Amino acid sequence: MKSFFSKFKNLLLIGAYKTLVIFEKLTNKGIALDFISKDYIDNPYKTYNLMRSHKPILFSQTTRLHWVTKMEFAQEMLRDKRFSVDDRKYPIAEKRRKEFKKAGREIMLEQFENPSMLKLDPPDHSRIRKLVQYGFTNRYITSLEPEIKKIVEDCLNKVHNQDSFDLIEDLAKPLPAVVIAKMMGLPNEDLDQFQAWSEDLLVGVGGIGTSREDIKKSGDAYEALINYFEEIILSRKNSPGEDFIGKLIQAEEEGDKLNIKEMYGTCLLLLIAGHETTTRLIGNGMFTLFNHPENMTHLRNDLTLIPNAIEEMLRYEPPVHATVRFAESDMIYNNKLYKRGTPFAVSIAGANRDPEANDNPNEFNIFREDIKHISFGYGPHMCIGASLARIESRIAFEALFERFKNLNLLDKNPKWGKNLIFRGFDNLQIKIN
Ligand code: HEM
Repeated sequence: MKSFFSKFKNLLLIGAYKTLVIFEKLTNKGIALDFISKDYIDNPYKTYNLMRSHKPILFSQTTRLHWVTKMEFAQEMLRDKRFSVDDRKYPIAEKRRKEFKKAGREIMLEQFENPSMLKLDPPDHSRIRKLVQYGFTNRYITSLEPEIKKIVEDCLNKVHNQDSFDLIEDLAKPLPAVVIAKMMGLPNEDLDQFQAWSEDLLVGVGGIGTSREDIKKSGDAYEALINYFEEIILSRKNSPGEDFIGKLIQAEEEGDKLNIKEMYGTCLLLLIAGHETTTRLIGNGMFTLFNHPENMTHLRNDLTLIPNAIEEMLRYEPPVHATVRFAESDMIYNNKLYKRGTPFAVSIAGANRDPEANDNPNEFNIFREDIKHISFGYGPHMCIGASLARIESRIAFEALFERFKNLNLLDKNPKWGKNLIFRGFDNLQIKIN
């Protein structure tokens, strides 16, 4: 009986969604952000290009967000103080608080009130970012190179004698996860567990067609991760050590630098940001190369082209497709009035394909000069892990091309994950010979 009602409810929801798509098309010259359609999931850029040429800031009924697909506006929103990330300040916060309370999510509510730096405006953002930056100096990140090479070699040794392997499961996932675990001082034996939690958690962040069960799973994973960090941090209070978590513990004890809840949020952010994104960069980049065999041949012939190719991969198939900002107060922007708290989806993927930012933006070209992308964000929240992600992916591509003379996609049409924010594959089977 329960399943009958839930099926019936789903049908109603799909009906309502389809009506919104029709309405959106009627009001926007045939353009709609139909995010559950196969067309959109396979190639969202087509929709973003249409949206940009119709209106660079376009309200989408299906997501209830204003989508910004023009590079100039996207950069301005990411950099300008008139746009904020701290959702606690706006009317939407009440709805979220009520949802957490109704679902009995005490931990999530507590963390919502003490967010990570990703969700903080200055001065709190600058206070925490300064602490975290100590762990990401160029010198330290560069010093990790031999270790990263060793991790990549270990991953590839395991598949060397096989006919095929899964680029995601066998290399792109474990590599950044092992690195971030090491930086933070997390035990290696916990890797599988925190990877499973982080995957479950992401379903609730931008997931498309997410069921009630998925949302519950995502909330459970979030709370399990916070409990995990709480346990680790409390157990290390007496001997913090010199890794990242140790440094945060010391900072917390010095007072006024960050509170314990902010520390849990910081750890969670680093863990998720540290591996879910780089995994997708390696997967999306390799898939794009397979679909552009001339570029692949040039790259194989000259591995020094890899760093520029990675920038082009980031621009063309970014792992993070969008981020959200709120109007800090009632404002006029691009000749339109927006109320305080209006949410904007800054479309990283859309801005990267803006012809005013890059010539022939829909062409993938590893020789492109002066590549303009905001795949690591822009302004005060720009990604702290960018140089780490660049090093990890460079070493991964170098090792793949040096070791395997012949690589081919086994499934020419692998399925893209269904998520509005994170774009990538769960699996990418590759034939070795
Ligand atoms: C290809 C890999 C990566 C991509 C595409 C990526 C993308 C991004 C983007 C778009 C933002 C800005 C979000 C916003 O403004 O709302 C961001 C912020 C951030 N990223 Fe990354 N990231 C990557 C790898 C990493 C890694 C490896 C780490 C750490 C180990 C990391 C840690 C962070 C942190 C801590 C922030 C928040 C910075 C702040 O709020 O000031 N990221 N990332």
